[in-house]
Amino acid sequence: DHESRIKELLDGMTVEEKLGQLQQLAWAWDTGPGGGDTAAAEAAARKGLLGSVLNVVGAEASNALQRIAVEESRLGIPLVFGLDVIHGYHTTFPIPLAQAAAFDPAVTERDAEVSAREARSNGIHWTFSPMMDVTREPRWGRIAESLGEDPYLTTRYAVAKVRGYQGADLAAPDRLAACAKHFVAYGGAEGGRDYNTVDVSEQRLRNLYLPPFQAAVDAGAATVMAAFNTISGIPAHANPHTLTGILKEAWDFDGVVVSDWTGVQELIPHGNAADEAEAARRAVTAGVDMEMVSTTFADHGRDLLASGALSADRLDDAVARVLRLKLRLGLFERPYAEESAAVTGPTAETRAAAREAAGRCMVLLKNSGGLLPLDGPGLRSLAVIGPFADSGDLLGTWSLPGAPEAVPVLHGLRKALPEADITHAAGVPAEGFDTSGIPAAVTAAEAADAVVLVVGEPAAISGEAAVRSDLGLPGAQEQLIDAVAATGTPCVVVVVGGRPLTIGGWADQVPAILLAWHPGIEAGPAVADVLTGAVVPGGKLPVTFPRAVGQVPLYYNHERTGRPYDPAAPEVKYVSKYLDLADGPEFAFGYGLSYTAFAVGEPSLSRERVGAEELRAGATVEVTVPVRNTGDRAGDEVVQLYVQDPAASIAQPVRRLRGFCRVRLAAGEEREVRFTLGADDVGYWTNDPAGVFTVEPGEIHLHTGTSSRTRARRTLLIT
Ligand code: IFM
Repeated sequence: DHESRIKELLDGMTVEEKLGQLQQLAWAWDTGPGGGDTAAAEAAARKGLLGSVLNVVGAEASNALQRIAVEESRLGIPLVFGLDVIHGYHTTFPIPLAQAAAFDPAVTERDAEVSAREARSNGIHWTFSPMMDVTREPRWGRIAESLGEDPYLTTRYAVAKVRGYQGADLAAPDRLAACAKHFVAYGGAEGGRDYNTVDVSEQRLRNLYLPPFQAAVDAGAATVMAAFNTISGIPAHANPHTLTGILKEAWDFDGVVVSDWTGVQELIPHGNAADEAEAARRAVTAGVDMEMVSTTFADHGRDLLASGALSADRLDDAVARVLRLKLRLGLFERPYAEESAAVTGPTAETRAAAREAAGRCMVLLKNSGGLLPLDGPGLRSLAVIGPFADSGDLLGTWSLPGAPEAVPVLHGLRKALPEADITHAAGVPAEGFDTSGIPAAVTAAEAADAVVLVVGEPAAISGEAAVRSDLGLPGAQEQLIDAVAATGTPCVVVVVGGRPLTIGGWADQVPAILLAWHPGIEAGPAVADVLTGAVVPGGKLPVTFPRAVGQVPLYYNHERTGRPYDPAAPEVKYVSKYLDLADGPEFAFGYGLSYTAFAVGEPSLSRERVGAEELRAGATVEVTVPVRNTGDRAGDEVVQLYVQDPAASIAQPVRRLRGFCRVRLAAGEEREVRFTLGADDVGYWTNDPAGVFTVEPGEIHLHTGTSSRTRARRTLLIT
């Protein structure tokens, strides 16, 4: 069995070989400062002083390096190859934030299955995904990789993605080891600035940031990555409370904790270590098992061991975790990728999956007068305008080198509407202030029956190290919208991008707005599907869209205040509000329209009272909610259940999502949706650092509806 094999291997290893297993080096492709050094990685592999490599792309390249480790090193321990396969390898799916908008974890599970098959066949064993940093920071570029602002939604997606990557057997030729990242609270970095400070109470840490990680670990996530931020003064890479106390001890995690890129060495600029030896000591004793790119463990491990600063047991534990991962992946039996079986590109089937996913992720923000879908007989001509109309830059952050570009929207619309006369004008560039193309765009708009105007963010300003202080459309794009809207031709704005943008300045000028996010490889066909009604939009916002950047952070599940704003009495002065801005968001969490309409009825409960102790012992309460499609075409609705504890020992959020279900209903069809509430849904973590989860007696208000803008409909009494 694995544990006896690990013991046997450990017994035969020198200290250097053990430290070598804890080293991960980068190959040629950079996803952090400094870049890769292929010669150094080869030399270390040959000497048996390397455990893992990241960013090798392709079966041939990974096999060549693996052969050195397996055939030329003293012990022949295989390397484990890691890569950021975040939303696709060859077949790029919509960005994770978009996937969250589907409110359908099956979307992310499918992405993970396709990604795993493509990547594993190319010699990758381990993906640094899923990212499960709950965040309320649209300025933060990495929000694109996240699943939004809600811990429950994030948790459901994190579990589905782990399952999709790992399946039942990590050794299978179409599976990847997952990495739950970034541990922990990275989404709370001040001002949305990457690599920055997070000062967080224990209760917020446990109620907001930790739940997705705990669920991912329970679902078997093989690895966890430490985060770049500090957590209340202690860098996450050197934090024994989170890495060891919570993750390894309380949750019993027996997998690998990998550092982020040079994250151990960065304890020095963080001001937490005087030199590399101290950085290594702090990180490894806190619980980091493998060091990515920097080499402080390998360089100082022997001295730390000799001085007693690092115990032999901790070293062996870290090595055992790395060996366990390799054994679980079956690398000792099958270290090489089968080159003839390597998947070389997307197939018709994977493209179809990406297209379907993209359609499910889109959110219809506005549709005045039923302009959409564009399926009316009067549509003879269409002007497709904007910097992203004929662009392949729709994959978003973390598309892999060599991944095929996205199919442009213009192409998708031409294919979907072969009878229509379709013209095109970019109008303005994606960034920059060259407005010389606006007159041609206006001419095209004036001559057409309708306009599709595709605006948004290029991938380069979304993702890691892509923080913005302004959430408007870049460059002169708003000017283009003004000019096109002024023509009076009915205009649909399609917004692409990786974060919530402030669109209040122009939203009133156009009748329809479709949020397409960065939709991935099949962007064009998927946008065309939704615009023409072949697919009825059903996505919902997984993040709040603020009216102005000055409101950030703005999120639906905020704590209560002693002086809440009352929309019925806007003139009251001494309440929590902005003087110069209407209250609340532009678009709320959970919001999204359809081409049909739905009515959600009164929920019923299987019981109206339940004991706190009973709940803790596993009792549950069923909530049944009727939903009916009141329109004249089939469509999807996401029925949402929120809970609110109006009087608790620690002030609770005004509401928090605890259930959602995306249902497809034919015109006129009615169905009942069922949710199950248990202790997890009505209790909360206290501020006790030892980890205390409490279920208190009292009322729980239940809200059901089609967005977070719900009202309380029923009360559950906890006795
Ligand atoms: O996995 C990533 C991480 O999310 C950010 N820094 C680099 C890592 C490896 O590419």
